[in-house]
Amino acid sequence: MANPNALPKYTKLFINNEFVDAASGKTFATSNPATGKEIIQVAEGDKADVDLAVAAAKKAFHRDSAWRKMSPLQRTNLMHKLCSLMERDKEFLASIETQDNGKPYAEALFDVTISIMTLQYYAGWTDKFFGDTIPAGGFIAMTRKEPVGVVGQIIPWNYPLLMLAWKWGPALAVGCTIVMKPAEQTPLTALHMAALAKEAGFPAGVINVINGFGPTAGAAISEHPQIAKVAFTGSVDIGRIVMQAAATTNLKRVSLELGGKSPVVVFEDADIDYAVDTAHEALFSNHGQSCCAGSRTYVHEKIYDKFVEKAAAKAKARKVGNPFEENVLQGPQIDDEMMTKVLGYIESGQKQGAKLQAGGKRIGNVGYFIEPTVFSDVKDDMRIAQEEIFGPVQSIFKFSCIDEMIERANNVNFGLAAGIITNDINKAMKFANSVDAGSVWINCYDAVLPQTPFGGYKHSGIGRELGKDGLDNYLETKTITMKLL
Ligand code: NAI
Ligand code: MG
Repeated sequence: MANPNALPKYTKLFINNEFVDAASGKTFATSNPATGKEIIQVAEGDKADVDLAVAAAKKAFHRDSAWRKMSPLQRTNLMHKLCSLMERDKEFLASIETQDNGKPYAEALFDVTISIMTLQYYAGWTDKFFGDTIPAGGFIAMTRKEPVGVVGQIIPWNYPLLMLAWKWGPALAVGCTIVMKPAEQTPLTALHMAALAKEAGFPAGVINVINGFGPTAGAAISEHPQIAKVAFTGSVDIGRIVMQAAATTNLKRVSLELGGKSPVVVFEDADIDYAVDTAHEALFSNHGQSCCAGSRTYVHEKIYDKFVEKAAAKAKARKVGNPFEENVLQGPQIDDEMMTKVLGYIESGQKQGAKLQAGGKRIGNVGYFIEPTVFSDVKDDMRIAQEEIFGPVQSIFKFSCIDEMIERANNVNFGLAAGIITNDINKAMKFANSVDAGSVWINCYDAVLPQTPFGGYKHSGIGRELGKDGLDNYLETKTITMKLL
């Protein structure tokens, strides 16, 4: 059952299988964005704590450690045990996620379900990352795929539990050890997951969780000389800092998932109601706070006016409010800063001449709620057309032919995802082949599956998560060449 008052059980840092205070003794508040009120104080980790976590993770990665000596099947079983504990605590996890993040309870519950599916998927990979045997004149050569070592994982607040699962899954499957920093806005589910990992039986040091802020705990991870790889999800600006830190320290491997400005293209032959619904969900799900949000809706000129009318009506009907209330589809934005940023984009859209068709304002003055907002007549050079808004603001553009459409779709710095809605297979495949995007969805959107790689072209990032490709982030290739004497 949804429990708006569920009290988090764990608030400290998780190092070497123990919950401990920060070395500094500091704590900070994590708040409920629906009320703006503090939920609870959590320990505030910094460099000293990251150092302890890395030392524990390094020990757990030693070639003679329990973790390294485990068979793949034992790792699989541990991961499945973790999944069954998540299943047991599903409603509790969803309840604290909704308190901490503000997403509707049903969506938080869905996030738990797909997080479990993701970990289950990767639990099957522990003995399937093969090397090659290579014909190489006169030698016997082979490659071995080896875990990179201690990995740092820095995640955002929009899908706190799911981003954890995306990062733990492949790292654990191949046998790495982990130092994770959840976002300062949403540390609660990661701490509960740490407790479940211990209960499942993961050896000490394999998983460590350090709550804290970016410039302190986050920077200590990205600059750490003993961390072999860092996986980051968040903003482009911080992605650059993380990559720079890797370059100037130990050249740790870097994978980045940095958001986007993804187009959803609707052709005139589409079923208009299906297209309106798909484009609406593509943008408004998770309050627009999604890296792959379909934030540029391009509609063919023949159906443009009708589409805009229906899209505005749909946005006006979207129920916003207490995320624990049934039928509420949109809760608050994550914090005051993000709400202010989104409202600033709405203002800039109006100033630059886009037509406001729905919403546009903050709701009330408690929590960080924004009306589902729709702009029509958006032009490609407007700020709302180029920059990531990360809020419930749909921008609708007009187009007339596919070649023009492809040019315009690609005319942004991002390249994470793209959607197209049409019954014309030739148009769909021409677009899919030509668009700069890591994922293309035809007649659907947001079909992010544990089995399929996900990541970005251009400023949207480096590397792929999920699927078989997701393992590559955590593996080194070793070539072993033998001469027969
Ligand atoms: P952010 O990039 O500041 O935060 C993401 C994570 O990075 C958090 O865990 C944060 O503590 C950490 N971090 C911050 N500074 C760091 C540093 N110097 N070194 C290492 N780690 C650091 O994102 P923020 O400020 O929460 O949101 C800003 C914008 O970023 C949003 O408006 C949105 O456009 C984008 N964003 C994209 C996400 C995605 O899914 N790709 C998720 C969250 C935000
Ligand atoms: Mg920030």
